[in-house]
Amino acid sequence: MTRPVSLRWFRRSWPQKVRTKLTLIYAALFLAGGSLLLGLTYGLVAASLPERAAVSGKAPMTQDEFLKLCKQPHPKASLPVKSGTRRPGPKQSGPLQAKIKRQCSQESAYLAGSQAAAARQRQRALHNLLLFSALGLGVMTILSAGAGWIVAGRVLRPVRMITGTARRASEENLGERIALAGARDELKELADTFDDMLERLDRAFTAQRRFVADASHELRTPLTVMRTAIDVTLAKPARTQEQLESMAVRVRRAIGRAEDMIDALLTLAISEHGRANRNEPFNLATAAEDAIDAAATQIQRLDLKLHADLDPAETAGDQQLLDRMVSNLVDNAVRHNTPGGEVCVASGVRDGTAFLRITNSGPQVPPEVVPSLFEPFRRLEGRIGGDGAGLGLAIARSVAAVHGTTVQARSRPAGGLDVEVTLAARGFRQLFR
Ligand SMILES: Nc1ncnc2c1ncn2[C@@H]1O[C@H](COP(=O)(O)OP(=O)(O)OP(=O)(O)O)[C@@H](O)[C@H]1O
Ligand SMILES: [Mg+2]
Repeated sequence: MTRPVSLRWFRRSWPQKVRTKLTLIYAALFLAGGSLLLGLTYGLVAASLPERAAVSGKAPMTQDEFLKLCKQPHPKASLPVKSGTRRPGPKQSGPLQAKIKRQCSQESAYLAGSQAAAARQRQRALHNLLLFSALGLGVMTILSAGAGWIVAGRVLRPVRMITGTARRASEENLGERIALAGARDELKELADTFDDMLERLDRAFTAQRRFVADASHELRTPLTVMRTAIDVTLAKPARTQEQLESMAVRVRRAIGRAEDMIDALLTLAISEHGRANRNEPFNLATAAEDAIDAAATQIQRLDLKLHADLDPAETAGDQQLLDRMVSNLVDNAVRHNTPGGEVCVASGVRDGTAFLRITNSGPQVPPEVVPSLFEPFRRLEGRIGGDGAGLGLAIARSVAAVHGTTVQARSRPAGGLDVEVTLAARGFRQLFR
């Protein structure tokens, strides 16, 4: 749809800067209000100034009215005649009428003169009022535009600060904050929200950089192991069958480790991007049983005492992700245990929530370290070491977050961890959906 030329011209010539727009709006509003007031004052003054002069305190009379009055017979000319006096005849009434007419014409001339003078005076007063008021309004409009420009500049200063900070912010420079001082108005709220957003972005970018650095370091480790194993074997002048087989085993183990890590990273990426089906039926008890079966060899090897108290714990969620979360937690309880230690696994439904609780003995875990273990590639022994990638708890946390819950972990005074996950029980979930 094409717009009329005048509208397009107006849109093109309308200023783009908010400060100019605000100034123009202030000035236009002042001019409109002033003009209205001026019109009102002018109307009131014009109505209160009489158009005709009042004669001897009586109501003003037009010249025609006055002449009409003069033509009427004089009241004295028709006075009743008293007995014994002579009724004035045509001869006596003539001079009296002439005198009245003369007097009338003199008064008429005076009245006409005073009317004209009053009209001129009224016109001059109104003209002066209009002229000086219009001049005053013009000057005041210019002054108000100037004041509007200054006020708009002050009001928009925080916006300029926000724009400047946003322009300077980049991936490398997210440390800057607006930190706007002053009253808690809308602009301060905007500046604070912007600061919060920068804070979150800063944290996210830092975490992402650390994750990329850790991931590349961890992925390089099996490659280094493979290269070293191959180089050492090849450096031997006479390689025996045994040496070659040992090298193959080490390379195979390193490949397995790299595969596990890539698999874990993929799971983490899937769960972190929220691509999960949250409606598949899932029983935490069955998943825990499967995980215990998978860890049976290690349980035997470490001679762990297992206490399983698995009541059905039906919930709904992404089967693959939840399976991974449960197996990671059970695997941790077995792997990070001490020989001859114990593992307790319990599940069930409590107050409308399905729960899975895994407790294990093991080395002491300082309580203040527990939250950091949920970060990717964090291990109790440090960044390097241990046979795991350090992604198990990060995955468990991410899967729980996708399902709208958290993994609660507490360090046990006797050593090891006490970990619990709760999810809405299936029946309750459907009831409240
Ligand atoms: N149940 C537990 N008892 C004692 N320590 C634990 C337990 N679970 C985790 N930890 C500690 O937290 C660290 C991080 O655990 P996480 O599961 O993330 O990684 P991982 O088990 O080392 O490797 P991955 O699970 O990727 O194979 C572990 O290295 C271990 O030090
Ligand atoms: Mg683990």
